[in-house]
Amino acid sequence: MPLLIRNARILTLAGTERPRRGKSLSDLGIISAGEVLITDGKIAAVGPKVEAAADTEAIDAKGRVLMPGFVDCHTHACWAGDRLDEWEQRLRGVPYLEILKAGGGIHSTVRAVRDATKKQLAAHLKERLDAMLREGTTTVEIKSGYGLQTEEELKMLRAIVRAGHEWPGTIVPTALLGHAFEGSLDEYARMVVKEMLPAVAREFPGITVDAFCEDGAWTLEACVRFFEKAAKHHPLRVHTDQFTSLGMIPEAIRLGALSVDHLEAATKADLAALAKSRTMGVILPCTSFHVDGRYARAGSLVSQGGAVAIATNCNPGSSPSHSMPLAITLAVRFCGLTPAEAIAAATVNPASLLGFRDRGTIEPGQRADLLLLHHKDERQLAYELGGNPVETVICNGARVTSPR
Ligand code: NIG
Repeated sequence: MPLLIRNARILTLAGTERPRRGKSLSDLGIISAGEVLITDGKIAAVGPKVEAAADTEAIDAKGRVLMPGFVDCHTHACWAGDRLDEWEQRLRGVPYLEILKAGGGIHSTVRAVRDATKKQLAAHLKERLDAMLREGTTTVEIKSGYGLQTEEELKMLRAIVRAGHEWPGTIVPTALLGHAFEGSLDEYARMVVKEMLPAVAREFPGITVDAFCEDGAWTLEACVRFFEKAAKHHPLRVHTDQFTSLGMIPEAIRLGALSVDHLEAATKADLAALAKSRTMGVILPCTSFHVDGRYARAGSLVSQGGAVAIATNCNPGSSPSHSMPLAITLAVRFCGLTPAEAIAAATVNPASLLGFRDRGTIEPGQRADLLLLHHKDERQLAYELGGNPVETVICNGARVTSPR
């Protein structure tokens, strides 16, 4: 059934440059009073006035903002258990990395995930996906990484795929095979290369792989050895410079990684090199808010011509949030992005990072993943603290309404 949205302030984000870099991040391609026609789950026409059959179902947007659905390109949304005790410890001043090194943090979620069945993991994840959708996320990347054993990592990836089948949006699984380790890192990393990576590749050919390069997690050397093996068949992403700058950013650029994620501790020189590279910087401001108030300097990356994306990093330890509007709000307050840059960094850029050319903009032929906001000015997205700015979500052409 075709659907016409009339009288909308449309943020088309149309344009050929993908991902958006530097100044082009601010160009939202706005049609201040326009119409969008949707047929068969796709955008059929966009403009000040479009042709539609007289009996087409219509939504009067009443001048409010219509924009592409959010693409949350970095989450660990598949987990079991909770980390409330750890959070209280951190409130008393115990650092995140100290808890990890003492066998808590990521390891406590590993224990809970191992105790859960695939079905239970998928059910928890589905609840989070539904909450994401209500706040406008229509495409989401979800990492494994709480298994730390071949069968457990596979269980997570299968649970992610299963939850995705029951959700109207799109999920993209990532194999986070270097999240932490048990026993000696050397032996663990060897096992990952010899056993875990081939097993994952058999079932999920070409899946993107990821690692956590950090003091107390994977060393630079272990990450590089793993990525050099994996790069032959898998795109690479890496968690890096969250607490410590270990030299991973130049290596990630050299290895052609799709993205470097976190960047709270990135040096000026590394940000400058990143801005000149094809690797995208992914910032995770909800983590900074929840962990210790250190934010990535995304504004500096953009002013030097770099490409940036914003994600929630939804996970039980460092970012218990599924909200892209909150991530945008914090990115504008603390990471140096303008509201317009943050909108591009939450839509077209993460779509490009995840390999989608069919979403992230409002143009004919694109998948109809759209958000109608409560607001007539898109800056409200970054201005409002809390609450849900999304009135209606249209996912693959179908309406999902979220009352305020
Ligand atoms: O990106 N830093 C590593 N991984 C996640 C946190 C996972 C956790 O604490 O459970 C992150 O912040």
